[in-house]
Amino acid sequence: MLNLLKWLYCNSPMEKIRRSIFRIIRRLEGGYYYEETSRSILKQYFNIDVGYSTAGFIDVEKIARGTVFGNYCGISENTYIYNANHPPRYFTTNALMFNPRFGCVNEDVLPRTKLIVGHDVWFGLSSIILPSVNNIGNGAIIAAAAVVTKNIEPYAIVGGNPARVIGYRFNQSVIRELEESKWWLLSRAELIKRRTEFEKIVGLSIYDLKNPESSKRGSSSSR
Ligand SMILES: CC(C)(COP(=O)(O)OP(=O)(O)OC[C@H]1O[C@@H](n2cnc3c(N)ncnc32)[C@H](O)[C@@H]1OP(=O)(O)O)[C@@H](O)C(=O)NCCC(=O)NCCS
Repeated sequence: MLNLLKWLYCNSPMEKIRRSIFRIIRRLEGGYYYEETSRSILKQYFNIDVGYSTAGFIDVEKIARGTVFGNYCGISENTYIYNANHPPRYFTTNALMFNPRFGCVNEDVLPRTKLIVGHDVWFGLSSIILPSVNNIGNGAIIAAAAVVTKNIEPYAIVGGNPARVIGYRFNQSVIRELEESKWWLLSRAELIKRRTEFEKIVGLSIYDLKNPESSKRGSSSSR
């Protein structure tokens, strides 16, 4: 069934139909975390690499070709990632001149960048990543409505326009331990089984999250 849908997706000339097929595939695969077919479509047809267990809204109209997402990321609705600007130093920024669709040129003439996103990165609602950004470190958080213009360090929380560092999720020694643990290489089942190991690193258990005070940044004993 999924193979048939993938075939239909690949051979359908109309974008609208393709989008509907894509939605059906996602639904059939059981939601965001289990979508191997849509992952393979994103890779094969849009050159967007989506890591294991990365979940959320990956809209091919909004996420630039060539983007690579690590594992266990979360992508909120209306996340935009751009890999080129309209040419600011050419006599016009109008697409007529540079977009092959309009007939002036027959190949892509814009310099394209490529964004590599680490593991466990959370993109807040309506965040915008500009072409000047090549790298987002593991564990980073991009606040809602941030406009990101620079690379982001691991576990930094950035927000605003232009985005600035609001803070870090953890202190440097906790960040080092998390990075060394490479927990994001585990399968979902292994991660659930071994979660207390990683909870110890940050000094917070999943059930502590219910208490708003204990889940505030800087509140746990290990930080
Ligand atoms: C980034 C975020 C996670 C920070 O949460 P937090 O660590 O609890 O931070 P706080 O609310 O304590 O705010 C810390 C500071 O960051 C600022 N801040 C928070 N969110 C911000 C945002 N989106 N843009 C700019 N600044 C922001 C606060 O004003 C505060 O500044 P101050 O210290 O000068 O008072 C959260 O604000 C956010 O943007 N979440 C995204 C929600 C979302 O998009 N959900 C989509 C569904 S998954």
